Amino acid sequence: MELSIDRVTKQYKNKIAVDRISIKLTEGVYGLLGANGAGKTTFMRMICGILTPTGGEIKVDGRNNMEMGEEFRNLLGYLPQDFGYYPDFTAYEFMMYMASLKGLPSGKAKDRTRQLMEEVGLLQAAKKKIKTYSGGMKQRLGIAQAMLNDPKILILDEPTAGLDPKERVRFRNLIADFGKNKIVLLSTHIVSDVEAIADQILLMKDGQLKLTGTVGEMEQYVEGKVWECVRNEKETEHIVETFNVANMHHNSGETTFRIISETKPFENGIRVKGTLEDLYLYYFQEETKC
Ligand SMILES: Nc1ncnc2c1ncn2[C@@H]1O[C@H](COP(=O)(O)OP(=O)(O)O)[C@@H](O)[C@H]1O
Ligand SMILES: [Mg+2]
Repeated sequence: MELSIDRVTKQYKNKIAVDRISIKLTEGVYGLLGANGAGKTTFMRMICGILTPTGGEIKVDGRNNMEMGEEFRNLLGYLPQDFGYYPDFTAYEFMMYMASLKGLPSGKAKDRTRQLMEEVGLLQAAKKKIKTYSGGMKQRLGIAQAMLNDPKILILDEPTAGLDPKERVRFRNLIADFGKNKIVLLSTHIVSDVEAIADQILLMKDGQLKLTGTVGEMEQYVEGKVWECVRNEKETEHIVETFNVANMHHNSGETTFRIISETKPFENGIRVKGTLEDLYLYYFQEETKC
């Protein structure tokens, strides 16, 4: 299957939230990475057919997503950014309710709910009210409901927001597992969430897709621009204000700075291998620094 996004644009009155994005997605996990306000949610809502683009078109195997109607919705699983969980429902009731909205027959809904609750590790807690759930449990329930109709296209908008490190790892494994034979598009502003599981990274800024590629390809973009420099600790404030500092490490009066810069920031600077995190900082902090 091919999800083809062709110059998709969303313009609000005086704000272009998504600006001529073009990309073709096939099976795999795509990490949509961008700061708050980059346009990730708007972009995803257009893919889901909830928002109409003001320009461009989204097609599945050559057919417009909006015109496909129910046929498209049957292909789609979606976890919205601000998902309403019905706090007084039990997780089981909630899943059954979502299944009915998706038009699953009740026998199938029961089987599928049970299976998914087991897969996301919530079977024991299925009869508990959602308001008693932790953030991580709610997010796992969120992904379970998105999987009810066995979607071929899975859209997850900031699914790791608010999770603790252990829950993040669990969630990542879940996505890697559920992502097989599907198009999975996952948005985040946290680099490490997509570094390990995304086949492709889509870097979004100011409504535009700035870069796409594998993690390795992304790292190439910052090659030669990442430096480690040991300086006197007293220079910290000045250096942080002047340069794009990815990291620093204090050690008995000296500080090792990891600096992203086109040119060597200090005479004693040593070039080091760039990471996806460096690239992200390079893109999202450059305008505020030097
Ligand atoms: N309904 C709307 N009307 C006007 N501007 C909007 C609307 N929805 C989003 N925006 C603006 O579009 C931009 C992108 O928002 P959003 O898609 O939510 O970004 P992200 O999900 O990456 O944080 C932001 O500047 C936001 O304020
Ligand atoms: Mg968003």
